Amino acid sequence: KTKIAVFASGTGSNFESIANEIKAGTMDCEISMLVCDNPEAKVIAKATTFEIPTFVFNPKGYTNKELYETEIVEVLEQAEVEWIVLAGYMRLIGPTLLTEYNGRILNIHPSLLPAFPGKDAIGQALDAGVKVSGVTIHYVDEGMDTGEIIAQESLVLEDGEDRESLQERIQQMEHRLYPIVLQEVVQSFVNKEGKDIQ
Ligand code: GAR
Repeated sequence: KTKIAVFASGTGSNFESIANEIKAGTMDCEISMLVCDNPEAKVIAKATTFEIPTFVFNPKGYTNKELYETEIVEVLEQAEVEWIVLAGYMRLIGPTLLTEYNGRILNIHPSLLPAFPGKDAIGQALDAGVKVSGVTIHYVDEGMDTGEIIAQESLVLEDGEDRESLQERIQQMEHRLYPIVLQEVVQSFVNKEGKDIQ
């Protein structure tokens, strides 16, 4: 099985949906580690429920990104993690992690990129008055939500759609789409590498 690390900063509903799919046996991955940059985040308790090891850190305790990313790389290498899956990790990935996991970092974003990158994509879309929005899954590069797009799914906004309902619909879409795309990407990589599927 391919070992992945999920990075999250908050609620962890995407973490939960991936962990549930893995538990249900629909994926050839295992989550070897939750990496979390917020000691208060709800996602940490979710990882404990699934008995998934966590690496929780507070970026304020480090003088720069390179220092904590070096620590993360050490932890991930020890756990033999092959892929990084960002799921609501609200921090730019720096050169240390990008070099080590080149082409093996995925992110999910709650808009149709390149529209509305960065924070509060759902609020940005509502403020812009768009009629269509959706979800993007993409590879991560050094930019903010700029990496190569892997998959997108769109939805049409309803008249008078508010933040709560749009967020709910987008999250449902994310929870369905991310495990499927993750499985496809990881599997096609395994096949290309000619590794045995265990
Ligand atoms: C998700 O909607 C994800 O797309 C978004 O944060 C939410 C995390 O929810 N990510 C970004 O906005 C990244 N720029 P979760 O913690 O319940 O999975």
